[in-house]
Amino acid sequence: MMLLGTQKINNRNHLEIGGCDIVDLAAEFGTPLYIMDEADIRTRCRTYRSAFAAEYGDSAIAYASKAFTVSAMCRVMDQEGMWLDVASAGELYTAKRVGFPMDRIVMHGNYKSAEELEMAVEYGVAYVVLDSFHEIELLSCIAEDAGKTQSVMLRCNPGVDPHTHRLIRTGQQDSKFGFNIKSGAALEAAKRAVASKGLNLAGMHCHVGSQIFDPTPYVEAASVMAGFIRQISDEIGTQIGVLNMGGGVGVRYLKDDEPLRIEQFAKIVSEAVIVAVAEAGISKPKLMMEPGRSIAGEAGTTLYTIGPIKEVNIAEAPGKRIYLSVDGGLSDNPRPALYDAIYSAMIANRAGETPTVKYTVSGRHCETDTLIPGVILPEAKTGDLLAVQTTGAYNYAMANNYNRFTRPAVVLVMEGKADLVVRRETLEDLVRCDVMPDRLN
Ligand code: LLP
Repeated sequence: MMLLGTQKINNRNHLEIGGCDIVDLAAEFGTPLYIMDEADIRTRCRTYRSAFAAEYGDSAIAYASKAFTVSAMCRVMDQEGMWLDVASAGELYTAKRVGFPMDRIVMHGNYKSAEELEMAVEYGVAYVVLDSFHEIELLSCIAEDAGKTQSVMLRCNPGVDPHTHRLIRTGQQDSKFGFNIKSGAALEAAKRAVASKGLNLAGMHCHVGSQIFDPTPYVEAASVMAGFIRQISDEIGTQIGVLNMGGGVGVRYLKDDEPLRIEQFAKIVSEAVIVAVAEAGISKPKLMMEPGRSIAGEAGTTLYTIGPIKEVNIAEAPGKRIYLSVDGGLSDNPRPALYDAIYSAMIANRAGETPTVKYTVSGRHCETDTLIPGVILPEAKTGDLLAVQTTGAYNYAMANNYNRFTRPAVVLVMEGKADLVVRRETLEDLVRCDVMPDRLN
């Protein structure tokens, strides 16, 4: 058993998060339910900010809102003094609507539409991260037409292998993202950006990948980036004031996972940048990081009600498999299907009991939507509550309506209070965008 954030087992033998008894949450809000541990989220923001300030000095931590963006989360990030990385009009709009300061926003995307770029310029976001030659021209025109100068960073591809799942790597040579440094594309992009009216080339950005346990790729990328900043200074005469090193550290999905602590990560990355900057002989830029998973991931738990439990005979040892179905699955957590992601779980209403039986946890979609291929639990009964841990990042954010399932509610828990931050979808929500053409009436 692994307990994360404020999770504990209370004297009723129930899992408790943020001082809220999970059984009470299920009764009040229903299941499936995403539960977000606000204290854990806030602690992680504070740890990131203070660790980078202590190890590096001038730094900013932008929450990668793609991990979990809802209005209340943007508000919490604002209160914690975080910046925000947004990657779409939707994420930008969510932030704007709750009054998140636009001068703490970084806008990403390999294909930002003209409308998105216009929105970014109009709102006055701090930095747009340029990702293609086409975008340099487009944004330059948009900013000029608006009579503004837009500060930009260049998304660079440092050509390092992050050794993470192939679908969440980005910093290797063969990637759709950014400008390749080795090929000379990044230098050409820097020249064009500097020459473009309406643009102020202020920063360099790279992101090597996600769920990274070994920090070596960050160290390698820091050296490549510092060298490139030096090259820009030498060849174009432009001084780059900001270096954005992308996403954060990996998180714990399983008990045996040992990601770096945020403080260790901050020390390694800061030292790498300080050394690289000294070697390149450039002045120390402001350091920006964009953690998503390590802010929201471990803070989230998905609560399901266990339904049918079915034993089937199989050819392999031990000759049987027990399928335990829950009232969600692929639509609230597509990560097992997409990335072979593995999760930990517990029976939340009997949390202290000894796990003895191996189950395969399945969702209730019309296909084999295995949520956890094998997990040992106390003997489960229909009606028990299953808590799946570390579902705060890229779960609600990637939830969908497959099979026309309604998306679950999200509650934010802290100090014994539980507040709804996303209401459960209704059947009416599902048909809200449907249009019936006249000829079918
Ligand atoms: N910055 C940029 C430019 C990114 O592309 C990402 C993640 C981050 C920051 C945040 O990285 P993190 O700190 O979360 O590792 N859906 C996938 C993850 C995709 C990550 C995409 N980019 C998953 O569920 O694992």
